[in-house]
Parts: sequence; structure tokens; C-alpha cells
Amino acid sequence: MNRVEEKVALVTGGRRGLGRAIAIMLAKEGAKVVITDRKEEGSKDVLKAIKATGNEGIFLLHDVREEEEWKRVIDETVSRFGKLDILVNNAGVGAGKNIEDVTLDEWRWVMSINLDGVFLGTKYAIEAMKKTGGGSIINMSSIEGIVGDARMAAYDTSKGGLRTLSKSAALHCAKRGYNIRINTVHPGFIDTAMVRGFLKAQAKDGDVTAARKALEALHPIGHLGEPDDVAYAVLYLASDESKFATGSELVVDGGYTAE
Ligand SMILES: NC(=O)c1ccc[n+]([C@@H]2O[C@H](COP(=O)([O-])OP(=O)(O)OC[C@H]3O[C@@H](n4cnc5c(N)ncnc54)[C@H](O)[C@@H]3O)[C@@H](O)[C@H]2O)c1
Repeated sequence: MNRVEEKVALVTGGRRGLGRAIAIMLAKEGAKVVITDRKEEGSKDVLKAIKATGNEGIFLLHDVREEEEWKRVIDETVSRFGKLDILVNNAGVGAGKNIEDVTLDEWRWVMSINLDGVFLGTKYAIEAMKKTGGGSIINMSSIEGIVGDARMAAYDTSKGGLRTLSKSAALHCAKRGYNIRINTVHPGFIDTAMVRGFLKAQAKDGDVTAARKALEALHPIGHLGEPDDVAYAVLYLASDESKFATGSELVVDGGYTAE
């Protein structure tokens, strides 16, 4: 309990999936949480769950691709709660296309959210955290940021890019003595709407059950992950328990990348 007590967290893409689980986990452990998302649907339910933990939460509409919107949501967070201690750059999109099929427009769309969004969030969070003595930035990569997958050329590139962006920014902050740590989390396939959409698209002859079984088999542990598996990893990196971890990669993948 209270592993992030008195801290203020901002979680992008917080209305559903991993972002939802992370926001509720941080609130349960004592943080005030700002959830942001490009869409509002589902956000009331997350706020209700945050309230039930006894902590405060607010929702802000936010497109992570837009620089001015980053300035606005960070300003609103600081004016409402006084500071920003934790940023989870979780919002992301997938495009299940190989290098031959993916179009330039699809490529740019994935980069604009998964890479530009994380770049802007990291940049403006550092600016805010510097003023209040430090913080922890957690950038959501993937196993796809470590190993390649023939089906996901743009997604893999974006997740690999944000992995090394995070290391560069972590080194910068450490060397400047900012007390700001930046780490990445690398989940295997987790049972969320994003993965269910991916399975539907990949299923041959519409056989989603077979596609799911094949995906599960890629994880030596024998099943997909749950959102809380990732939320616990984020909680560790958000808390002061990880005070010596920066520029690191926390892999939570049921053994996927160990093979
Ligand atoms: N589910 C998995 O298996 C898995 C594995 C590894 C990494 N990830 C990463 O974890 C993150 C969350 O994944 P998820 O499975 O919960 O996905 P999801 O699709 O369920 O949720 C993503 C959220 O991001 C929001 N979003 C999309 N574009 C946005 C934008 N431009 N601005 C603001 N918000 C935007 C969506 O509205 C949605 O609420 C993503 O970055 C994803 O790449 C997921």
C-alpha cells in the first residue's frame, strides 16, 4: 500500500486497456492521477474506479501528437495538483502490416502517435519535473521494440525508436543531475482491445480462437498477459523503490524474448 503516496501521475491513453489498469493501480497505491486520451469513452468508468480507491483523478482530452496539447495538459496537471511526479507515456496504436504492405501514410500515422507523442511527452515532462525536484517517466515500448515481427514493420520501428529515445533522455537527465529517471516497459501480448483487434485481423478464415492459440504459444509461460501484469511493472518504476533504475528496460513478456 501507498507505494506512490503523495505523488501526482499523468497516464496517457488512460481510458482503457493498459492505461486504465496503470491509472487505477497508481491511485490504489496513493497517487493522484490525471488520465488523458484522444477519446472520452470509458473515462468515467476509470474515474469511478480511481475514486473508489479514495484518491483523486481527473480526465483531460488530449491528442499526444499535438505539441500545444502537451503544454496544456501538463499546465492543467500542475495547476490542479501542484506538480507532476510520474508520466506514463502509454498511448499507442498498432498497424499489423509487413514492410511490403504498409503504406507511407500508415507508417507516418504510427510514428506520429507512438514516437512523436512519446518525444513530446518526455520533453515537456522533463521541463515540469525539473521545477519541482524530479520525477519518473515511464515509456511504453513492447517486445516489438526488442525483437522484430514480420507482421508489424511500422509498430516495431516506433517501439524500438522510443526505447533508445528513452535511454538518450535518461542519460541527459542523469548527467545534468535533474533527479528525473526514464525507463521503458516491454510487455508481451496482453489481453486488451488492441490485441483482440490484432487477432481478428490476423485470423485466417475468421478463426480467432486458432489465432489466439498460436499467439499464446509464442509465450513460453503458455498464455497472454493481463493488464495488471504491466501495471505492477509500471508501479515499481514510478515508485522510489526504483531510485537506482534509469535508462533501463523492464521486460514483462512470459518469456517471449528469452527464446
Ligand atoms: N496490449 C498489448 O499486448 C501491448 C503489448 C506491448 C505494448 N503495448 C503498448 O501499450 C500501450 C497500450 O496498449 P493497449 O493494449 O492498452 O491499447 P488500447 O488500444 O486498448 O489503448 C490505447 C489507448 O491509447 C489511446 N490513443 C490512441 N491514439 C491516441 C492519441 N493520438 N492521443 C491520445 N491517446 C491516444 C486510445 O484511445 C486508447 O484509449 C500502447 O502503447 C501499446 O503499443 C501493448
